[in-house]
Amino acid sequence: MKVLDDIRVLDLCHVWFGPWCCMMLADFGAEVIRIEPPWGAIDRAAEGALKGGSSYTFHHLNLNKKSLTLNLKEPEGAEIFKELVKVSDVVVQNFSPGAMERLGFGYDVLKELNPKVIYAALSGFGQTGPYTKRRSYAMIAEAMSGHTRLTGESHDPEGPPIEMAQAYGDLGPGTMAAMSLLAALRYRDRTGKGQMIDVAQFDCMSAYNTAITAYLLFGMTPREIREKYPMGRGGIGGILKTSDGGWVRLAGFGPRGMDKMKEWMEVEEPTKEMLEERVASMTRDEAVDLFVGMGLPVAPIYHVNETIEDPHLNARDMFVEVEHGKAGKLKLLNFPVKMTESPGEVRTASPVLAQHSREVLRELLGVSDERFEELVKAGVTSKPM
Ligand SMILES: CC(C)(COP(=O)(O)OP(=O)(O)OC[C@H]1O[C@@H](n2cnc3c(N)ncnc32)[C@H](O)[C@@H]1OP(=O)(O)O)[C@@H](O)C(=O)NCCC(=O)NCCS
Repeated sequence: MKVLDDIRVLDLCHVWFGPWCCMMLADFGAEVIRIEPPWGAIDRAAEGALKGGSSYTFHHLNLNKKSLTLNLKEPEGAEIFKELVKVSDVVVQNFSPGAMERLGFGYDVLKELNPKVIYAALSGFGQTGPYTKRRSYAMIAEAMSGHTRLTGESHDPEGPPIEMAQAYGDLGPGTMAAMSLLAALRYRDRTGKGQMIDVAQFDCMSAYNTAITAYLLFGMTPREIREKYPMGRGGIGGILKTSDGGWVRLAGFGPRGMDKMKEWMEVEEPTKEMLEERVASMTRDEAVDLFVGMGLPVAPIYHVNETIEDPHLNARDMFVEVEHGKAGKLKLLNFPVKMTESPGEVRTASPVLAQHSREVLRELLGVSDERFEELVKAGVTSKPM
């Protein structure tokens, strides 16, 4: 038994934000049907390198899902989608606001079709407010919620803004959306009622920014607070270069860390310069072993190839091997959280485009093989190529 194996999700998402949200539900066992146009969504081939016809981001963000192609702008495609809504629990989309309504699938329509449906509309700025119509990607929300300036200032207070690597402006809000969907499912279990969920990247990335609370309370950024009120026993640490060209990240903050540092350096007032000098004469492994031995939080700074090989991550079953319809066996990341009773897990690779079109239409709507062929011919759906 998987905790969500009685839940069906129609995943009308693209790129990172929405696909990640729906994958969280799929990992807990929901039947997630990713619906793309017959020509494939924009994230299928978003990056140059393709494996089995899909980009690495598609492989990362669409595990455990089925693929159905439907041209929703064709009247027959729209009708099929409406029939699917009637037999589903959740609908998620992350188009720019207005696109879902232009297709004829606003929440008013969805709830008419299925009053118990839970509908999540994911977007950059939400379904209301002055910026609602603006398109967005992760970096747009990161920029406006303050993260990009803060990242730059943490490197150099006078320097330019710096973007975070990867796209936490997608995965963070995507996780919030998945969490809200679980809350809505719980609400529906208790009341029988569906609802609409409006998740904005800008809202979520602001909620992830503790510097906003610093400013609300003190009118200062965390850096300004530290400068104005230096803590006498504040620790030292940071990113430190080692003799073999490697780097370590030491977080020797707090009184306990400072006491250890004083003892090790045999000085009353350890400074960052003293620390840098000592670490520069050690290899990366020596430095990590030393600080681990001292009980300080420390890490070697890895490239991803080293992350993949790390024995600890492997011992915690963070990698799985799955069979992809076109690319064969793939080693990929597993669901990260461990649970004693109802864990999430990666069971299947991302689907090939249209891999489950025939199966989904037959099993859920009783579409015959003959009718399916007609729909393919009419460009309403498609088969895997
Ligand atoms: C990501 C984003 C910038 C992409 O913009 P875009 O490529 O112009 O796409 P839009 O979402 O505006 O529109 C999607 C279009 O595809 C169409 N479409 C989507 N699925 C379809 C299907 N199965 N069949 C037919 N048409 C389909 C929609 O109807 C819409 O068409 P329209 O503009 O003619 O009404 C935009 O979707 C967006 O801002 N989304 C919200 C924020 C977000 O999630 N960003 C991505 C973070 S990873």
